[in-house]
Amino acid sequence: MEHYFTNNENLKSEIRYIDYEYENFHFKFLSDLGVFSKNKIDYGSKLLVETYLKNNSESKKILDVGCGYGFIGIVLSKVTDSVVTMIDVNKRALHLTDRNISENKVNAHTYLSDAYESIKEKYDVIITNPPIRAGKDKVLEILMGSVNYLTDDGELWYVIRKDQGAKSIEKVLNKELKVDNIEKSKGFYIFRAKKY
Ligand SMILES: C[S@@+](CC[C@H](N)C(=O)[O-])C[C@H]1O[C@@H](n2cnc3c(N)ncnc32)[C@H](O)[C@@H]1O
Repeated sequence: MEHYFTNNENLKSEIRYIDYEYENFHFKFLSDLGVFSKNKIDYGSKLLVETYLKNNSESKKILDVGCGYGFIGIVLSKVTDSVVTMIDVNKRALHLTDRNISENKVNAHTYLSDAYESIKEKYDVIITNPPIRAGKDKVLEILMGSVNYLTDDGELWYVIRKDQGAKSIEKVLNKELKVDNIEKSKGFYIFRAKKY
């Protein structure tokens, strides 16, 4: 079965545009076949971004893991004037993110990276709507692995659905990081995790 994160060079292209507004900021995202939530901004990603922004307005050094066409990192970069690194395994998603970075005029750049394999630096914030379909081991690799790429007072922010194991993942992650549930809506949970 084809997943949205597999690289299929033969997949046809049907570019579409998605608008998003946050306060006085207007965003336009190009999307395409073969990427996550191709027709509309995912509810969980939107809740993650809006919950993060309720709690943070300062400029930070941010890493968006599994960036898709770039929604999370691009909005945070624009609204908080932050420098954002955006990574994914899906080449088409990264190409769209590059175009969306230019379209929305933000200070961000992309890398092809399986979890943190291309990452050498540390970040104030790591944010992710993790790839549940890649399996629980990959999700835990991304969430647990954040501890090695966060500054000492850095924060991991993530969204996960209740029926996708939010509680069991929180329990495992709590061994590495102090995890708090910041928001809940329509079965989506937003978590913030910090180093002990
Ligand atoms: C749930 S989607 C979120 C996409 C985007 N952040 C959004 O909010 O629309 C998860 C993303 O993780 C990517 N992904 C899958 N496996 C990955 C891996 N091993 N390393 C990095 N990213 C991965 C997928 O290609 C997909 O774009």
